[in-house]
Amino acid sequence: MDRDDDVQHGDALFQSQSPGPQSVGQEKAGGMGDNEGRQRLTDLADAMHLRDDAAEPCVMVIFGASGDLTKRLLVPSLFNLYCDDLLPPSFAILGMALDDFTTDSFRAKMDADIREFSRRSPFDEDAWHTFCQGIHYIQGRFDDAQAFSLLNDELDRMDARYATGGNMLFYMATPPSVFGMISSHLEAVGLNRGNGGWRRIIVEKPFGTDLASAIELNREILAFWKEEQVYRIDHYLGKEAVQNLLAFRFANGMFEPLWNRTHIDHIQITASEQVGVEWRGGYYEKAGALRDMIQNHLFQMMAYLCMEPPTSFDAEAIRNEKFKLLSAIRLMNHEDVARNAVRGQYGEGVKPDGSPAAGYRQEVHVDPNSNTETFAALKLRIDNWRWHGVPVYLRSGKAMEHKVTEIVVQFRRAPEFTFRGTPAFNQLEANQLIFRIEPGEGIELRFLAKRPGPSMHMRKVNMHFEYDEAFTRQPGTGYETMLYDCMHGDSSLFSRTDLVETSWRIVQPVLDVWRDEKAADFPNYPFGSWGPKSSFELLGPAHRRWVDRISRKVLECVPMFEGSSDAMLKAFAMMLRPMVFNQGDEIVSYGSEAGELYIIEKGRVEIVDRKGWVKTELGEGQVFGEVSLLITKQRQASVRALTYCVVYTLEKRDFNKALKDRPQFAERVMRMARERYNIIVDASDLIADDPASNAH
Ligand code: BG6
Repeated sequence: MDRDDDVQHGDALFQSQSPGPQSVGQEKAGGMGDNEGRQRLTDLADAMHLRDDAAEPCVMVIFGASGDLTKRLLVPSLFNLYCDDLLPPSFAILGMALDDFTTDSFRAKMDADIREFSRRSPFDEDAWHTFCQGIHYIQGRFDDAQAFSLLNDELDRMDARYATGGNMLFYMATPPSVFGMISSHLEAVGLNRGNGGWRRIIVEKPFGTDLASAIELNREILAFWKEEQVYRIDHYLGKEAVQNLLAFRFANGMFEPLWNRTHIDHIQITASEQVGVEWRGGYYEKAGALRDMIQNHLFQMMAYLCMEPPTSFDAEAIRNEKFKLLSAIRLMNHEDVARNAVRGQYGEGVKPDGSPAAGYRQEVHVDPNSNTETFAALKLRIDNWRWHGVPVYLRSGKAMEHKVTEIVVQFRRAPEFTFRGTPAFNQLEANQLIFRIEPGEGIELRFLAKRPGPSMHMRKVNMHFEYDEAFTRQPGTGYETMLYDCMHGDSSLFSRTDLVETSWRIVQPVLDVWRDEKAADFPNYPFGSWGPKSSFELLGPAHRRWVDRISRKVLECVPMFEGSSDAMLKAFAMMLRPMVFNQGDEIVSYGSEAGELYIIEKGRVEIVDRKGWVKTELGEGQVFGEVSLLITKQRQASVRALTYCVVYTLEKRDFNKALKDRPQFAERVMRMARERYNIIVDASDLIADDPASNAH
């Protein structure tokens, strides 16, 4: 639906119903500000529009129905669709698994589980009661032909009872090793061929563990099903903010002309998690971060972001473009892997709640000498006209500082000559467009603005769009749209054989090298950190750096920022850059040119004087390097990492800007200099414009 029409429609509804007190519009808008009321009406109109378009009647069969997926995601999603009137009245669920349930006891289990896993608020008891009556269960083994014959009979009965027109959706909530077995039994009783109705299967990842096994799995599935019957789920495509990438690119005329190598410097995609592998060590040992996240989820996001505009929103048109994009990724050879792929494994560290965390090798079902990576980063090249020369950096890791999924598109810097003779010369920074996928879904555009005052000083500022401010919605599981689309026969959000195989083809050289060459430095990052140092080096030139979220909580622990306002902390968060050092690394060398100040976020360092004497040790929240920025350009001491360290750097130009903009900050730095080094500096000397910037 066109958003302009949508808003007008909402306005019309809102106005036409005023001032009548009984109207739906007023009821919904009661007690709200105008904007909020209008937005609710807009969303209501959206929902009413969708109601005409409920999914097609069908029976959904869940193989492996007693497992986690059904209770955590499938049933809560289906119930959400039901509550939003997006399921047809002719709909029923049939669970099949080895566990000894009857329909009644399975319903009782679902009844208990939904209260734990549904995030709907308020929970509609009546709706659940009705929905639950459509859930059935049949016990059976996947290797037992007789069980499938009983399944067939049961489906005949349900089809007649619920008037589902022979439409059946088979959900394989099972390990891939039994996809073929289940499919062959379904074929034997004729359930893979529609008898007037449609038959579709949904399969969950992993779609293979490497290129050869993916080809084999596809061959096995396609022996029983046609490509258009197969729906391969990647739950990242169920995320609204991922789907919005297409809307953003192709529904807005503004950015598409800039979307190429002429204007874009590079792209970063990050998906980091705070949790370790938890109880999934057995699975993860055979997977690793590259297989678990990059080959599927990150590649899907990259494809949406970088593909050519499809000729329509037809599933094949979109998937063809994704395939072309993935096919254009340059395959790595052995040397490329050494240069362009980084792996890491977490060691012991600290959980977000401050409690100690075990290293990966100490996790349950993990080999104490494991070579499996829990962090992976790649630098990819796309060999097509649009992206030639624009690197795409991908990284994903477990046990990281933050849970964050986001995409950064960094534009090329503007030419600086215009600002010659002004303080802004040499201070221009690249614009960044940031897609926040999770948490805090939204989009942010970072650009430079003139700081108020007589001289031409620049400051990085940002424009935000936040989903939660713009739209109202019930929290979902992320599976709703995918299930709904599948019931409609729309496979845009699902992967295709060629897409899966091409993704594996890209990562296969990396998998091969990592399998054959044991990582000598594992574990190479502590639990709760920013990943291995080498991932920071992957980006190369200084103007390319991972754009990381620096949390307010961390900044609050730094005495230098104590008592800072919200706006000030936000400004600092945009200026600071995290860097990682390993134990023994020299962070600052004596006599070197001073360009930045350092704040220790994690770890410990020692300050060593010219003669090699250790002067002091510093730890988390403390600052070093500021003295050189205050009095001279040469470093007066060396600084060495005593442990793995994360330090935030504040560059000289940002430091100067911060001093100018924030008098309290300037005072604090002066005080620190006095207390620690007995140096008395006049703040006005520091904040005078840098004469170098006035050079012609
Ligand atoms: C799954 C991976 O596909 O995605 C998990 O197997 C990972 O290891 C999960 O934790 C992450 O999903 P999300 O939606 O939380 O980013």
